[in-house]
Amino acid sequence: RKVYLKDYTVPNFRVLATELTVELLADCAEVGARLTFSRHPEAPADAPLVLSGAGLELLSLAWNGRALADGEWHWADEQWVFPGAGDEGVLETRVRIRPDANLALEGLYRSHGLYCTQCEAEGFRKITLYPDRPDVLAPFRVTVIGDKASCPVLLANGNCVARGDLEGGRHFATWEDPHPKPSYLFALVAGDLACLEDRFVTASGREVVLQIFTAPEDQDKCRHAMDSLKASMRWDEEKYGCEYDLDIYMIVAVSHFNMGAMENKGLNVFNTSCVLAHPATTTDAGFQRVESVVAHEYFHNWSGNRVTCRDWFQLCLKEGFTVFRDQQFSADQLSAAVQRLEDVAFLRTHQFAEDAGPLAHPVRPESFVEINNFYTLTVYEKGAEIARMLHTVLGAEGFRRGTDRYFADNDGRAATVEDFLDALGAANDRDLVDWTPRWLRWYRQPGTPTVRAQVDWRADRRELVLTLSQSQPALAGHPQPEPLPVPVRVGLVGAEGELTARLAARQEGTPDGTNEATGRDFLLLLSEREQQWTFSEVAVAAGDVPVLSLFRDFSAPVNIDYACDDADLARLVRHDGNGFNRWAAAQTLATREILARYAALAAGAGEGGPAADADPAPGVLADALAGIWPALADSDPALAVKLLELPSLGYLAEQVDVYDPPRLHAAREAVLAAVLQPLLATLRDILARGDMLRPYHYAADDIAARALARTALDGLALLAPDEAAGIAAEWLATSPHMTAEQSALTLLVHHRLAGADAALQRFHQRWRHEALVLDQWFATQASRPAADAVEAAQALLAHPDFDATVPNRVRAVLTQLGMNNPVAFHRADGSGYALLAAQIREIDARNPQLASRLSGVFGIWRKLDAARQTLVRGHLDALLAGTLSPDVRETLSRIRGEG
Ligand code: ARG
Ligand code: ZN
Repeated sequence: RKVYLKDYTVPNFRVLATELTVELLADCAEVGARLTFSRHPEAPADAPLVLSGAGLELLSLAWNGRALADGEWHWADEQWVFPGAGDEGVLETRVRIRPDANLALEGLYRSHGLYCTQCEAEGFRKITLYPDRPDVLAPFRVTVIGDKASCPVLLANGNCVARGDLEGGRHFATWEDPHPKPSYLFALVAGDLACLEDRFVTASGREVVLQIFTAPEDQDKCRHAMDSLKASMRWDEEKYGCEYDLDIYMIVAVSHFNMGAMENKGLNVFNTSCVLAHPATTTDAGFQRVESVVAHEYFHNWSGNRVTCRDWFQLCLKEGFTVFRDQQFSADQLSAAVQRLEDVAFLRTHQFAEDAGPLAHPVRPESFVEINNFYTLTVYEKGAEIARMLHTVLGAEGFRRGTDRYFADNDGRAATVEDFLDALGAANDRDLVDWTPRWLRWYRQPGTPTVRAQVDWRADRRELVLTLSQSQPALAGHPQPEPLPVPVRVGLVGAEGELTARLAARQEGTPDGTNEATGRDFLLLLSEREQQWTFSEVAVAAGDVPVLSLFRDFSAPVNIDYACDDADLARLVRHDGNGFNRWAAAQTLATREILARYAALAAGAGEGGPAADADPAPGVLADALAGIWPALADSDPALAVKLLELPSLGYLAEQVDVYDPPRLHAAREAVLAAVLQPLLATLRDILARGDMLRPYHYAADDIAARALARTALDGLALLAPDEAAGIAAEWLATSPHMTAEQSALTLLVHHRLAGADAALQRFHQRWRHEALVLDQWFATQASRPAADAVEAAQALLAHPDFDATVPNRVRAVLTQLGMNNPVAFHRADGSGYALLAAQIREIDARNPQLASRLSGVFGIWRKLDAARQTLVRGHLDALLAGTLSPDVRETLSRIRGEG
């Protein structure tokens, strides 16, 4: 059954107070609820009380103290309907649920003996009868009762107000959360947990207790998350004026979890992979992920919890904004330029592909069957880009004025995207009649827009005329896209570097004054289908032609169509004052060279075709990098690392008409070798410094030095494999930390170098009791870019350490194979597709959310050649003909489409 944004109506009843008693018993749990209802002032006087319930065993029901007879209420789907509620009253219910049998990991379930909950989006209805929708907010009082021995720790949201012993070795704890919240933010945890405790004093001087709960053996892996939490709390006070509002903030690590983490009020539940970190077991990437996810969930306390969403169509309101906030935070921790280009590379690889494929949808969808299917890259990442564009257009101060207004106007409310835009506009004196509808277009129109740039250089007048035009794909249900407001940051670059210029006329709709002065960096706002700007007094040397540096810092999430020649791009790689655009120019050059080689490989296809065997000729990119890279590796190693990361296959796939993954991979490797060749001596020098083997510190300089060493070794593996294998063996033997170990292992395995099998074995021996490290062991093998990774994955699924009930372990094999290993997954014989299809069917019977997510691997299928499309279509049709959860059915039928 589909629900539509346009059908929104207010709930018939509000909840004034929610009281729960959750009794954890040997083989079930019993949940008592006492809910005080009052008719919503805008609801019709005769509208019934409607509650949601799924998989509940109803034990008793009473209205105002009187037991309800069967005929007084009825079920309609998973809705409990009670017409006799009048205007107010108290409902008391008692239900039985089965946490141990809950393998969907939604609602109340058990993970390695630990009781925990996941309610967002609609899991609370699996715990008790409730108006389980985000626009019903109530203060909660929760009593948890459990066995003292197996569950010494009993947690729920808010402050603990009572605890004590009960008969029969049992005990209880009562928690009160004074902040009214929707049910999706409810959490309960019970089990045998150890705790790291710290303290934080807020800006206004209140002391907050911080606790991180984990299995006892993981307590040594909590320090980094704790430091990240404290840094996030301070940052949100300083950057957004947002202070924490309870006396206690708890984080619990659980090993069975469908996603990264969940921002339940005062009691976050985290996937272990997003909270545990220790140098011995966690890579630099892992440390950074912990830092950003801890921040993300903390920032939700305001953007999500204090101000929540009216309905699930508004999901981007909390997620897009919060991702933007966590990206800003991460940029402030290490390198801002590197943070930005990593975020953009991720967006362009994954979100652009989603927006161009069968799963494309607006940032604010208009309908859904299963909301869990809409926790997407488009909602999160494109949603964050919209927040970023608003920040760009309003400026940092204007944006802050806007968010202050948003938080003040909507505190304690369930808000909409319109409320957000109105607050930002109103705080900055914008005409809301124009402002809000215009920006809403970004939330309503699916597909990645394209901006075309044309430049007319009038040398005699030193004037550059820039014409920008925008277009958008017309997707089903959105036949006539309207022009979007597109912020375009530009600069001009001469043969020796940045140029000053004057923007002749002030442009309508741009931030005050931005474009009037002489400068090096301009912000244009493209708001019509086509517009023109004239830069005069361009300070370019005689005979030189300025090169346009467009969309600095990726000022809008668009495809850029600008026919600038290779030499111009090389100039940007060398001289652009914007670090992001130096990288972007290198990516564009690399893309061109890879696509040229891809075409050549097709032309020479078949045995020993000339193009396939030819030595890679150095290209423009190789030349440009040879000139600057060695110095850059010293001055800005983090950026240097990124300049050698060529565009991902996922991104490249979007640039070709027909995607042949092994051929595209081969083309990419060839260009990589050509780029690396001139740098061989530099790579050796870097490795000789031994930075990878120094003791671990989590600090920008150390991380950059390790990344550089890793890049150098990866490069060496292509150019001098034996030498690289020797160094990798040394890293493994010394193993000062997981960053060294993991990069060495991946290198040996992915390049199939001498000693790879022995290294895998030793690694397994050493780390078999560390679940997260073992996940990496599985992932490293499943992601080896070679056809027989399919057989490897098959074998891993049968490995004694494989556990199909742990999502992290499933993803370590299947997401790695299906998303991160195109060469194997798209094997021409279809064995990769067959493996994923069979696994999706099997997993769906237990865990629909996980299965539905995995189903996304087939989203790319329309880009493939006819033979591969036929193979995929066969699997899609076979799956759709069988029994499936609504989750997987919705995803697969959208992917399948018509025809
Ligand atoms: N709100 C969580 C976060 O982004 C994610 C919850 C995902 N829920 C889901 N049903 N997929 O922090
Ligand atoms: Zn979130």
